[in-house]
Amino acid sequence: MPGKVAKIGTFSDWVGLFNDWRKEIGVNTDDIEAFKFDTLYGAIETDDIEFGHYKGKRKWENLRQIPTQQMRDALMNMIVYQGDTEFASVEQQRNLLENAPTDWDRRAITRVMIEEMRHGWQMCALLIDHFGYYGKVEAQKMLERRAFENKRLLGAFNVDVDNWMDFFTYTDFVDRDGNFQLQMLKFSAFAPLGRSMSYMLREEAFHMGTGNDGLRRIVEAGVIPAWLIQKYLNKWISSSYDLFGTDHSSSAHWAYVWGIKGRYDEPKNDKAADLDDLNDYNRSLYRDEVSGLIERFNSSLKPGEPKLYAPHIKFNRFIGRWANQKFRAQTGEPLDDRAYEEHLKEYMPSAADKKLLLEIIETEKKWIAEKTGARDPLATIGEVRKSAINL
Ligand SMILES: [Fe+2]
Ligand SMILES: [Fe+2]
Repeated sequence: MPGKVAKIGTFSDWVGLFNDWRKEIGVNTDDIEAFKFDTLYGAIETDDIEFGHYKGKRKWENLRQIPTQQMRDALMNMIVYQGDTEFASVEQQRNLLENAPTDWDRRAITRVMIEEMRHGWQMCALLIDHFGYYGKVEAQKMLERRAFENKRLLGAFNVDVDNWMDFFTYTDFVDRDGNFQLQMLKFSAFAPLGRSMSYMLREEAFHMGTGNDGLRRIVEAGVIPAWLIQKYLNKWISSSYDLFGTDHSSSAHWAYVWGIKGRYDEPKNDKAADLDDLNDYNRSLYRDEVSGLIERFNSSLKPGEPKLYAPHIKFNRFIGRWANQKFRAQTGEPLDDRAYEEHLKEYMPSAADKKLLLEIIETEKKWIAEKTGARDPLATIGEVRKSAINL
């Protein structure tokens, strides 16, 4: 890493940078300021490597036990990418704390932000505790990139999440991609990474639940037309498809062979992995899950509204074999240049759509159904942490 000098020696130095970062991006509300952040490790199902070339051998507890430098580099890279998305999501959502539709929602987004910061914290703790000097440099750079300066490592994490329709769609579907990634890392041969995942996964469940239930409340309210909701599904779900990475990825291939990252359904899947197509395999599992969730919304739609759907796997892709080609959102049929230009206007949110959406949100109080029967997200935030093995 030429030209980059670590300013930090210890994890508490890093915490100083983290405290500056949250003030600087403007999310240090009283609730967030008061939260006590922790590194949390949970139990893993087995101490033996679960897949790949080293299957059956003991999982690694530290870097010295990892057989090659290439493997250590791949592992560090994976942790850096994961951590980057966590801090990025807080930056993307930073302006929404002010205009939550209800007090429950304000408390829910506060919790989501706290937990995303904790996930970034957890990844930085791994980098600093295990990866020596370069781990410290990476943990520091994690707080120097900014989503709103287009510096985060993955495209979807540089896009603004600037209204509450975006927020619910994002937490339902982009956080769900995150959930897939965490699940795949949970089976990692690097035991401290696997142990980091059990808490992160529990926290992630709240984010996806908030998003999914938010969208259900919007559909039930019946104020925002289904065609407009569909555009937001198209936007965030298509970019989530990209987040699984390229088809025929060699880094996914090696991460599997080396035991660093498994398939989403790894322990249940007794078939040999198709090493050449891992990302697309996980992507298709994701699409199945998402399609099922959207199907459930359809039962709450007002009569006469068009059914909602998950966009076709080929639509609006920028990564993989369908990248930069032109297909219909619902069916994946090819379109020529002119027709596609028109199609995008109909199927992706435009500036006019955003204006209409904001008008509805501002003027129609009942654009989203009340949240009923739910417990206070900030009162229950500690519950998932009770059984951490290192507290
Ligand atoms: Fe997260
Ligand atoms: Fe999340």
